[in-house]
Amino acid sequence: MASLNAIAKKLVTRGQGILAADESEGTIAKRFALIGLPVTLESRRDYREMLFRSTEAMGKYISGVILTEETLEQNAADGTPFRDILAKADVIPGIKVDRGAFPMPGARDEKITEGLDGLRQRLRHYAELGAGFAKWRGVIAITSYAPSRNGIRANAHVLARYAIHCQEAGIVPVVEPEVLADGEPGDHSIERCAEVTAETLEAVFKELRLAGVDLSGMLLKPNMVTTGMRSREKASAEEIARRTVDTLREYVPAAVPGIAFLSGGQSDEEATANLSAMNQIPGLPWALTFSYGRALQTSALVTWNGESENVPAAQRAFTHRARMNALAARGEWRPDLDLAA
Ligand code: 13P
Repeated sequence: MASLNAIAKKLVTRGQGILAADESEGTIAKRFALIGLPVTLESRRDYREMLFRSTEAMGKYISGVILTEETLEQNAADGTPFRDILAKADVIPGIKVDRGAFPMPGARDEKITEGLDGLRQRLRHYAELGAGFAKWRGVIAITSYAPSRNGIRANAHVLARYAIHCQEAGIVPVVEPEVLADGEPGDHSIERCAEVTAETLEAVFKELRLAGVDLSGMLLKPNMVTTGMRSREKASAEEIARRTVDTLREYVPAAVPGIAFLSGGQSDEEATANLSAMNQIPGLPWALTFSYGRALQTSALVTWNGESENVPAAQRAFTHRARMNALAARGEWRPDLDLAA
């Protein structure tokens, strides 16, 4: 078995990143609503098969894929296990292990993520199936009531409990505390996001240390420091990059091998531009890459539109987005490369 540090480092190989394809049944239904497609076991399978069989994207730009429990054990239409398709492309399979974020008792506007019960046994099973890493998402909302100190602390604590369980099972934990940009009301300033992100990361690393998590055998999946999605102000990629890196430098130990951002509702091009701007900042102690869901998939989903004859065009759209983000992970993306396509 490869060491946790070796797996973590491979996931953040320079010029590669993670495809988040772990939408729950509810979330994938929301995505399919965009193209008016009903969600069935087959439609979910066909869509994900289209992504996983994008040979160029998977072979060159994607280091790992976050799967759902369903997909980790699923076969393509011709019976080939998805795991074999990923293995052939040298892509590490990962697994979303949280069971979703639910209203937090005793709190207003806050959620707590569930899924610790039985996690030890589930992780053992996922490790047997070849999962190299896992993901757990904690959600921190910004409203006039939230986040409270208790909300941040509780989410940080379960993230640490999850992370140490993963490491005991030989699985790299991807620790995802997401300060929401696209929540309600979503009109907060970039300063407020910076403040809440700082408090959250401080709490998360305190809990990870207390739990005895080996920081060299994990990855962080944070939000970027941005304005709320419905804020009247909009920050430039340079400002987002500077504020995000400043916050991370203060709270994320250099022992963490890599940071793979979520896209959080940013447009495809924003998510790419922001990542590229961060990677142009000199002297970063960790690898910075993507672990995008929407910002990698939306153009492919819309092009696919649920029809098998659109698969090659959808795969080209996905490959293009993956390539743009791979360039951004090197700090080498330029807007004209997107325009040209
Ligand atoms: P987005 O990039 O669409 O935010 O999704 C990433 C993810 O895994 C959220 O948990």
